[in-house]
Formats: sequence, structure tokens, C-alpha cells
Amino acid sequence: MEKRSNLQGVHFIKVDGEERIATINLVPGVQVYGERLIPDEGIEYRLWDPFRSKLSAAIIKGLKVLPFGEGSKILYLGASTGTTASHISDIIGEKGIIFCVEISPRVARELMERCIKYRNNMIPIIEDARKHENYYSIFGKVDLVYCDIAQPDQTEIAIANCKHFLKKNGHLLLAVKSRSIDVTKKPSKVFKEEEEKLEKSGFKIEQVIELEPFDKDHVLIHAVMK
Ligand SMILES: C[S@@+](CC[C@H](N)C(=O)[O-])C[C@H]1O[C@@H](n2cnc3c(N)ncnc32)[C@H](O)[C@@H]1O
Repeated sequence: MEKRSNLQGVHFIKVDGEERIATINLVPGVQVYGERLIPDEGIEYRLWDPFRSKLSAAIIKGLKVLPFGEGSKILYLGASTGTTASHISDIIGEKGIIFCVEISPRVARELMERCIKYRNNMIPIIEDARKHENYYSIFGKVDLVYCDIAQPDQTEIAIANCKHFLKKNGHLLLAVKSRSIDVTKKPSKVFKEEEEKLEKSGFKIEQVIELEPFDKDHVLIHAVMK
């Protein structure tokens, strides 16, 4: 795996002869999704599974810049049970904060059990990401909006959330699954159309990363809101 210098908080470690990526566990001894915990010289690493997390897949597939770090403030749409959000929580640390929006109360209960209970920097918001006016716990602007809700109108939802909560020149990471948007169109056409929607709304596309072999017909788009 190629080493990149602008991925602060991501650790490349050798496990059973293979290079893997990991984050330093903010809550030593506690797993979130059955991931392996690797102790090494007083530090506990949490392996970050690219088959379970699109952000991990994107890093392995060549994401050039991780647009957040220690102390960042993040709005995460579609937090689910916290697989990816928990690794972001490791990276931003105690000084950072991640607001976790999840529509399903059942899924959110798991998020509470696995993450919120242990991690002070994760704030749950059980709400539809289409109704951002109902996120009462968010204060100030965020550095990054991460969106992974697998909905046909998710780019529009991401844009509306960015316009409301993202600071100028802030970052958007948008996971796009072509089948969630239009099963009848070629994935490459769907990806282009979603990029164009972002550009028309004042975003600059920084990078588009295909996530195969970890996720079929998915890309992660990194854009900046101008
Ligand atoms: C693909 S999963 C997210 C996986 C997660 N990002 C991860 O990597 O750990 C999509 C999640 O978005 C949630 N979701 C779908 N529509 C939503 C909406 N309108 N608002 C908020 N969450 C939504 C689903 O309940 C589901 O948990």
C-alpha cells in the first residue's frame, strides 16, 4: 500500500504479513463491529475493514487527502450502527465532535449501545436527513459533511445539509451507490450526473474514487464547498 502523508490519524500496520489500515482506539478494549484490536507498545489499534467501511475502502483505493483530523467538527448523515463513524471518532479525538444523523430508531439503538455509550465525541441525532431544521443539538458550522444514506435524492440532501451547516471551503465526502439512484442507468453516467449536481451548486470536485473490489458500483466523491 502506498504511504500518503496527508492521512493524519490513519495508521498503516502489518498484521499476519499483510499491510492493513487502523485507527488508535479512543476506548481501549471496546470493539464496535467485531474488528480486531491490536495492542502495540501501549497503543491499541483498531483494524479498519474496507469491506465494512467505504471510507476505509477509499483510503486504500487512493484517497489523497483525509479532510479532517484531530479536533474536527463533523456532520455524518446515515451513521447506521457506527462502523465508519467510530473510526472518525478515533481520529478526531476528545477535542473533536461528530453529529451522527440516523433515521431508523432500531439502528440508532445499536449505535447507542456500540458507540454513544462509550464515546463522548459522538452525538446522536435520530432524524431524517431531509429535515435538517430539526437537528436541535448542532451548534456552529462543521468542517466536514459525510453522507452515506443510499437514497435516490441523497446528493440533494447532502447539498441542503452543507448549505446549512458546512463552513465556507468546508469538505463533503459523499458515498454514491449507483443502484440506489437509478438501476437502469450505467453507473458511470449516474456518477457523472451526481458530480454535475454538486458543481452546479458551487462545489469543486477534488477526487472521485471507485470503491471496487470492496463495494461494487460505488464511488466516494470528495468535494469542497466554495
Ligand atoms: C449504507 S448505510 C450507512 C453505513 C455507514 N455510513 C457506515 O459506513 O458505517 C445507510 C444508513 O442511512 C440511513 N438512512 C437512510 N435514509 C436516511 C435519511 N433520510 N436520513 C438519515 N438516515 C438515513 C439508513 O437507516 C442506514 O442506516
